[in-house]
Amino acid sequence: MNPLNHVAIIMDGNGRWGLKYKNSRNAGHRAGLNTVEKIIKEAIHQKIEYLTLYAFSTENWKRPRKEIKYLFDLLENFLITKIDKLNDQNIKLKIIGIKNFSTKLNKLLNLAEKKTLKNTKLQINLALNYGSKAEIINALKKLKKNKKPINEKNLTKNLQTKDIPDPEILIRTGNTQRLSNFLLWQAAYSEIFFEKKLWPSFERRDFKKIIRKYKLIKRNFGSI
Ligand code: IPE
Ligand code: IPE
Ligand code: MG
Repeated sequence: MNPLNHVAIIMDGNGRWGLKYKNSRNAGHRAGLNTVEKIIKEAIHQKIEYLTLYAFSTENWKRPRKEIKYLFDLLENFLITKIDKLNDQNIKLKIIGIKNFSTKLNKLLNLAEKKTLKNTKLQINLALNYGSKAEIINALKKLKKNKKPINEKNLTKNLQTKDIPDPEILIRTGNTQRLSNFLLWQAAYSEIFFEKKLWPSFERRDFKKIIRKYKLIKRNFGSI
């Protein structure tokens, strides 16, 4: 059976779920948070070490201001109300992406990272204002500045995911089959699962089913 350390998820479909069931995209974003909590529980249950969640891309700034504000208000509220619970569960929170939000949100994010820094059960990488292309370009710029040779190892070491293994599983919910600028380098050999369900409808059992399937895949990495 294949080992599993890292699962990455593109949590897509909130807006469509909200429009379909509550006549509001934002209601979908709210509902999506419940799924986040369920999937964290299952990740712990499965003894997964790293869970990377795509919450906001560098391209999501193209959305209406009101929706963006709603998303960041939700996040603020989540951090304020849940960070102690995450901490009690020995969960480490790390932000990947560029933290250039409001002063209040930046502070909250830094505090949450600092508070949970030494936790060891599960590391959640929250991808916020994250774009894989920007991440790779930044890594290359660092190598150039420090006059380091450009090779696979050095590039990997300068990504925001530097200390963690590549995801063995990448899931995208929401019935869309694309990567939308997520972990382009790190997912070079990930097993990719495109899930029809919208994120708020995604359940622990759907997650479990994907993990079961993954464990039986013959992973070749170019060999036979
Ligand atoms: C994903 O859901 C969440 C974010 C991008 C913040 P969407 O908001 O993209 O939902 P759909 O794809 O429009 O349904
Ligand atoms: C990807 O979803 C980003 C997140 C889930 C945070 P999008 O809904 O933004 O992706 P596109 O625009 O459909 O590719
Ligand atoms: Mg979407």
